[in-house]
Amino acid sequence: METPTNGFFRMDEESFARLSQYVTQTYGIQLPATKKSILENHLDEKVKNLAMSSYKEFVDFILNSGSSEDELLHVLDLITTHKTEFFREASHFQFLTQQFLPRHQQENNCDNLKIWSAGCSTGEEPYSLLMTLEEYKKIHPKLTYTLLASDISTRVMHTACHGEYDVEKMQTVPSGMRHTYFMCDKADPKQVKIKPHYRTKIQYKRVNLMHDNYGLAKHDLDIIFCRNVLIYFEKPTQEQVIRKFCNLLRPGGLLFLGHSESVMGMNLPLSQVGNAVYQVQEPEARSQEPESPALEFTS
Ligand SMILES: C[S@@+](CC[C@H](N)C(=O)[O-])C[C@H]1O[C@@H](n2cnc3c(N)ncnc32)[C@H](O)[C@@H]1O
Repeated sequence: METPTNGFFRMDEESFARLSQYVTQTYGIQLPATKKSILENHLDEKVKNLAMSSYKEFVDFILNSGSSEDELLHVLDLITTHKTEFFREASHFQFLTQQFLPRHQQENNCDNLKIWSAGCSTGEEPYSLLMTLEEYKKIHPKLTYTLLASDISTRVMHTACHGEYDVEKMQTVPSGMRHTYFMCDKADPKQVKIKPHYRTKIQYKRVNLMHDNYGLAKHDLDIIFCRNVLIYFEKPTQEQVIRKFCNLLRPGGLLFLGHSESVMGMNLPLSQVGNAVYQVQEPEARSQEPESPALEFTS
């Protein structure tokens, strides 16, 4: 049995390396050495509550027991950032209203628009998409859409499904939209809720982007938002995930990455059409030079 130093168990290098390798393989997320002390600070109580005598025992438990994904997801929550906000990287929402939607309406008339927010965290991104689409619908009522949101973390998805936020979170929501989409929480004046009528328009699904199959049909989606998620993955893993996105998007469909992310150096059938916005090439364009100019949109 290991004796805790100053009451704390220390994670030995081997246990950390095993955990780190497993997390990267299973969830894509890299676990740099700087995260070790964060894990030690947060997991100490858990190790003690489970009556374990060392991190070696804890890591054996979470990696070998098939029933303990909850524990692993808890570890994952400690090392991943869920930072997000309403209308984050706002130019993407302008791109949708000013460039994509008018064109989509023209070409597809009332075809149902299908959007996936992959790595949605606590829901601010899919709700921003919903508000953008609903505002557009006020002027173009024929628009119909399906909005899917997913994350690996059940904890953040729980918040997303409930649509309850601190009132300060509304600061980045345009003032004209606040009363339309949010209501006060009578029990807590510091909280607001997305109105049920809108909340229920989003479908949620737990998806690990590292899985081969996301359970979605090929070429069925118009838009994927996967912003500030892949930044934590190694480059080859990013490319594998984006390749799967390309298969799920219809030709001409759009992929939105975070503003600091890009597909540079990757061999993918995508043309850049805006700031971190990529369009899946039509099959006939795929044999052309990768530098061939993007077609439809002005950025
Ligand atoms: C920083 S948040 C981004 C939220 C939102 N997309 C935005 O840009 O504001 C990253 C999210 O990616 C999720 N994530 C990390 N690895 C994942 C994986 N392998 N599969 C699915 N989601 C993952 C995390 O749980 C986290 O909620």
